[in-house]
Amino acid sequence: MSATKEMVKVIKLEDLKPQIGKEVQVLDQSIALFLLSNGEVRAVSNRCPHKNGPLAEGIVSGEFVFCPLHDWKISLTTGEVQKPDDGCIATYETAIIDGYVYIGGLRQHEKHDTSR
Ligand code: FES
Repeated sequence: MSATKEMVKVIKLEDLKPQIGKEVQVLDQSIALFLLSNGEVRAVSNRCPHKNGPLAEGIVSGEFVFCPLHDWKISLTTGEVQKPDDGCIATYETAIIDGYVYIGGLRQHEKHDTSR
């Protein structure tokens, strides 16, 4: 098994408070981390698809976050905005290893200049 392949160490698990989001910057991306009440960690884009609300500052309920700006409800598991609103945010793999949270599935900026 290589669970740490392409995963980035981002924060100590003890620095996350249950149900309280935390913003981290990884590879120039703003990521919102959440420790759910069941002990699982979720990592999603910190930008609400509506008007870029900072989701790390939203209210967490179960596996959902409510955007602090206009209260859209977004799944922290699938990234899907719940009806009646519409949209989706990026979700990332997480792992907890030796007391640290790791995030996977991040990409460097898509467009590298590949001129040869
Ligand atoms: S910016 Fe998130 S609901 Fe409007």
